[in-house]
Amino acid sequence: MRSAPTLNLANDYQEAYDYYPEKWVSPYIDRRRENGWGLYNLLGIAKGEKDKMHAQQQRNFCFFDAPVGLMFTIDKVMGRGSLIDYGMFLQNVMVAARARGLHTCPQAAWNSFANIILPHIGAGEDEMLVCGMSLGWAVPDALINTFVTPRESVDSFTHWCDSAA
Ligand SMILES: Cc1cc2nc3c(=O)[nH]c(=O)nc-3n(C[C@H](O)[C@H](O)[C@H](O)COP(=O)(O)O)c2cc1C
Repeated sequence: MRSAPTLNLANDYQEAYDYYPEKWVSPYIDRRRENGWGLYNLLGIAKGEKDKMHAQQQRNFCFFDAPVGLMFTIDKVMGRGSLIDYGMFLQNVMVAARARGLHTCPQAAWNSFANIILPHIGAGEDEMLVCGMSLGWAVPDALINTFVTPRESVDSFTHWCDSAA
């Protein structure tokens, strides 16, 4: 009988779709670690400092102190391809924000809490949470905002075809 609350809790924190792979493999896991540890090193968070990691993760849930928090939903009838369209839509929101001097941080961190969030934002049963997004003005000299993520070279993920061959 005691396991019932735990089960309910697990149901409450289900993602509506897999944002991350079920199983992390190289090279993606390596890049994820490089980014994650790069950020934590900058913030002075060492391996095993779970409380500090948790506190940093929790910053998501106050939208990093941004004045506006956005939640994005999609009609559940749409197919997986529509998430491609939706990604472009999100990027357009982000680019439009930059054009107006604003900054954004898209946030998949909210996805585990979809079942809790959706009723709060008045979403219907037919809607699925895609992600959240912070919108506001970044503090450029805040330590966390000095972190620059590395980029793969174009050649590393492009297969160039020689039309003469
Ligand atoms: C779809 C999507 C979801 C993201 N979710 C989060 C998130 O939940 N929390 C967070 O701090 N950053 C999140 N990020 C932002 C990345 O961490 C951000 O891209 C990174 O801070 C560095 O930016 P850049 O690599 O795009 O330059 C997300 C980015 C995207 C595109």
